[in-house]
Amino acid sequence: MNDLAEKLIKTHELSKEEFIQLLNQADDKRLREQLTQEAVRLRKACYGTKVYTRGLIEFTNYCKNNCYYCGIRRGNTHAHRYRLTEQEILECCQAGYALGFRTFVLQGGEDPYYTDERMAHIISSVKEEFPQCALTLSIGEKAYETYRLFREAGADRYLLRHETADNRHYQSLHPESMSLAARKQCLYDLKELGYQVGAGFMVGSPGQTMECLAEDLVFLKELSPHMVGIGPFIPHHDTPFAKEKPGSVDMTLFLLSVIRILLPKVLLPATTALGTLDQRGREKGLLAGANVVMPNLSPVGNRKMYELYDNKICTGEEAAECRGCLENRVRSVGYYLVSERGDAL
Ligand code: 5AD
Ligand code: FES
Repeated sequence: MNDLAEKLIKTHELSKEEFIQLLNQADDKRLREQLTQEAVRLRKACYGTKVYTRGLIEFTNYCKNNCYYCGIRRGNTHAHRYRLTEQEILECCQAGYALGFRTFVLQGGEDPYYTDERMAHIISSVKEEFPQCALTLSIGEKAYETYRLFREAGADRYLLRHETADNRHYQSLHPESMSLAARKQCLYDLKELGYQVGAGFMVGSPGQTMECLAEDLVFLKELSPHMVGIGPFIPHHDTPFAKEKPGSVDMTLFLLSVIRILLPKVLLPATTALGTLDQRGREKGLLAGANVVMPNLSPVGNRKMYELYDNKICTGEEAAECRGCLENRVRSVGYYLVSERGDAL
């Protein structure tokens, strides 16, 4: 067996230099097979053939940030902006609950309209109506005290991708007002406050090198988050990266397997971006070691407006259609969707 693969499988860890070497062999078919097989073995040892599902509610596409890759960046004057009211958010949850969802993810841009007080009110309303469900937030960087307030209001989990763990690369994807140090601080704050925390990054974002990806893996091992979201970069036509090439599906699948081995118990979604670049991307993600899917519960009327990248799938389908569609897709690769909260082990 490949020495590095063997070491990774035995120790669940590699040095940055070793990760670089491993990633440079990502198109070696034998190596891929070895790692995929081990990733699936670990996934089944921890979770059997269950796939957890999260209902994603994209409740605002206003954002004060201006990340170069993102379609809802402040500078995109062509974006049609919307916000959901607390009532509309609760209606999404009600529809989702009836379909069997037991985790709701409130995701949005960094929108100052949702003050700490408004947000805390929404969180406690959702938790009051659905006490048996987990509530995940994905609303960006906040102060420690704000994260504490949301936690006390009932939020259980928080998704905040670090995007890239390489400083120079981070700076090339974001305006100067943003920093990797601030992003990492948020992730450590969230952990300290007892959230189940999700980090993650885009695969193939402009300027990304094997060194960057190796740094991502080293950082993930150090942070040891409960969840890791990764997906290929996909250009959006109204951003500075409009003309950049999309990330690679195969590299994303390879990284899913590596992450499963690095963090065997991790909650690992087969993402919408993966499903956008490849018709069977999400199924392939599950076969590479992923164990979560995150279909959309947002009102169909708003779906198209939450356009982080071009050609995003599922913008025309009702929540029930996506649920059914995913049930079939998951089953087609030997797994099954469950109606559980799906907390971190
Ligand atoms: N391509 C792929 N993923 C993107 N995201 C934002 N813009 C893009 C894009 N153009 C991802 C980021 C963010 C998450 C919500 O969506 O990683 O954290
Ligand atoms: Fe939305 Fe298939 S998951 S249509």
